[in-house]
Amino acid sequence: MKILMVCLGNICRSPLAEGILQAKANDQDLEWQVASAGTGAYHVGEAPDIRSQKVALAHGLDISAQRAQQFKRKDFESYDLVFAMDQSNYQNILALARNEQDRQKVHLILELSKGKKEDVPDPYWNDNGFEHVYQLLDKASDSIIQRFS
Ligand code: 4NP
Repeated sequence: MKILMVCLGNICRSPLAEGILQAKANDQDLEWQVASAGTGAYHVGEAPDIRSQKVALAHGLDISAQRAQQFKRKDFESYDLVFAMDQSNYQNILALARNEQDRQKVHLILELSKGKKEDVPDPYWNDNGFEHVYQLLDKASDSIIQRFS
């Protein structure tokens, strides 16, 4: 299964989501390929924000080799599931969907773990927000594996 994690810049939240879910899937011998992208193009080609890299490393994950890319309509052809970090990302992804099959692939990432529509807060302007984002995505990844494996 191919899974795409999507935020705005693809440097803070979705690189963490990619790293966390990929590690958990590997641990469970699931043949899942997890990637990430941003709805915006501002940071294309960049490594994850150093604050995301640090919080990942503190939990034993090295995400430093990731490079930001922009979400494109053709990604609907490559991925089985697309997880948006917040409702703004969710709407921007849906706006590129070509049909109902595309729309069915798109989920708000915290909806499974929280049971309601809740956003992963954008930590870009908040140095202290990264551990909280990590914890939210860690729980969300467990829920994704329960639901889709
Ligand atoms: P992300 O965070 O969407 O979690 O990667 C952001 C990174 C950069 C910007 C906004 C959000 N930016 O405006 O440059």
